[in-house]
Amino acid sequence: MMNFFLETIQVLLLSIWYNVESFIHLFVPFKKKNISGEVVLITGAGSGIGRLMAQEFAALDTVLVLWDINQDGIKETARLAKQSGAKKVYSYLCDCSDRNEVYRMADQVKREAGDVSILVNNAGIVTGKKFMDAPDSLIEKTVEVNSMAHFWTYKAFLPAMIANNHGHLVSIASSAGLIGVNGLADYCASKFAAVGFAESVGLELLATGKDGVKTTIVCPYFINTGMFDGCQTKWPTLLPILDPQYVAKKIINAVLTDQVYLLLPRSMYFIAALKNILPMKQGIVLGQYLGAFSLMDTFRGHSKKQE
Ligand SMILES: NC(=O)c1ccc[n+]([C@@H]2O[C@H](COP(=O)([O-])OP(=O)(O)OC[C@H]3O[C@@H](n4cnc5c(N)ncnc54)[C@H](O)[C@@H]3O)[C@@H](O)[C@H]2O)c1
Repeated sequence: MMNFFLETIQVLLLSIWYNVESFIHLFVPFKKKNISGEVVLITGAGSGIGRLMAQEFAALDTVLVLWDINQDGIKETARLAKQSGAKKVYSYLCDCSDRNEVYRMADQVKREAGDVSILVNNAGIVTGKKFMDAPDSLIEKTVEVNSMAHFWTYKAFLPAMIANNHGHLVSIASSAGLIGVNGLADYCASKFAAVGFAESVGLELLATGKDGVKTTIVCPYFINTGMFDGCQTKWPTLLPILDPQYVAKKIINAVLTDQVYLLLPRSMYFIAALKNILPMKQGIVLGQYLGAFSLMDTFRGHSKKQE
């Protein structure tokens, strides 16, 4: 009985304190950590926000390890990262959906660049077809790149972080990992998996006392990188198509301040919360109002743009 009483008081006091702390941080920015000299691995670094994050990390005096399946893409990112001041840049052709290749390249990274202390799982692909029209091979690939690759990179790089009780796991998921979208079934499944995985391992680490290994889960709405070219947003003020540079900066800031969830734009926090509390029929009406039912109708993506 005494335990129940004491534990309840403790939880109540901590709850009040953490809410006050959050409120204070609306006005006072969090202290940023110093990541100079850290080894940062970015998957899918050959274009889009992977490249921009590489440049941002480079400017913070880090050692960069770049993975991509696009040789020209990583070469260009490596050049830009050096220009931005990276301590050292290592680039590797690595298909992160291939478990054996991930383990092989991880061994090479450890030999050449040392232990990775910031792992950014960023590589991603999208089929862009209605589920029944999507070829099985593309559905499989989407899950392999967008979620299973995260399992293999964690297996490869997390042990050293745990041993040092120091590190940061960054999952570039999506708002499609929080809310289902008409026309994005396999992508949403893969991103929900990425969110659930990163969240669960983060809790596993906390439960074992490894509080020096941080997790950041990033859930952006559309970003203007080409991946979702053709898609239009119905109310750009409420749900703007995001500027890649802005997204990269927000992600780096989230890492530097150990922010666990980063949803972009800000309205996404509200929309995600509403999804879970509104009556279903009202949620559907709201989804239609926000254009969520027709988001993918005009999708072209990278490939069609290049044709
Ligand atoms: N663009 C958006 O609207 C948007 C929105 C939310 C989340 N995201 C996510 O952000 C991440 C980055 O997307 P982006 O917009 O910069 O797209 P992008 O297409 O410009 O970049 C993705 C990169 O991943 C690489 N890649 C693909 N498959 C790979 C594999 N098997 N192994 C290694 N690299 C591989 C590609 O070559 C490319 O360089 C993705 O995970 C994406 O799902 C994008």
